[in-house]
Amino acid sequence: MERTFVMLKPDAVQRGLVGEIIGRFERRGLKIVAMKMVHITAEFAHQHYAVHVGKSFFEGLIKYITSGPVVALVLEGTNAIEVARATMGATNPARAAAGTIRADLGLEMGRNLVHGSDGPTTAAFEIGLWFSPEELLCYPRSVDAWIFE
Ligand code: RTP
Ligand code: MG
Repeated sequence: MERTFVMLKPDAVQRGLVGEIIGRFERRGLKIVAMKMVHITAEFAHQHYAVHVGKSFFEGLIKYITSGPVVALVLEGTNAIEVARATMGATNPARAAAGTIRADLGLEMGRNLVHGSDGPTTAAFEIGLWFSPEELLCYPRSVDAWIFE
């Protein structure tokens, strides 16, 4: 079973799309094992997006991501990293496949609603950055046998 980090960006919160977006991950079968709402500082945003330091869009990205509260989650399930990214769609909503969060709910790259870890190393780093070990829950769901073979 794999875990991934997902963040609903400030535009998702402001536009009242938190339930809609989390619902899509839930319906897919992914299990929420941690969740909280945070208004992150620029310093924390720099840590989260450290790989993008120096890129042309970096300052705009930091401004965007710190512009209001976000919802941070850890999702667990089979191929959780890949499945969460597929559910989100391509980075640019204009090129995201229909049926994905970014295509159905967004228009622009700099307002693309949601973040998901892009690989196992990133997932481990981001989960550790956003959550303490005791915030990560381990619990069975009665429907698990109908979702996981
Ligand atoms: P994320 O990290 O937010 O899940 O998105 P991603 O992997 O699909 O895309 P990434 O390359 O990691 O970029 C991080 C975020 O920066 C903004 N961005 N703007 N204007 C641009 O060229 C540009 N490129 C990236 C987007 O908000 C993207 O989600
Ligand atoms: Mg990324």
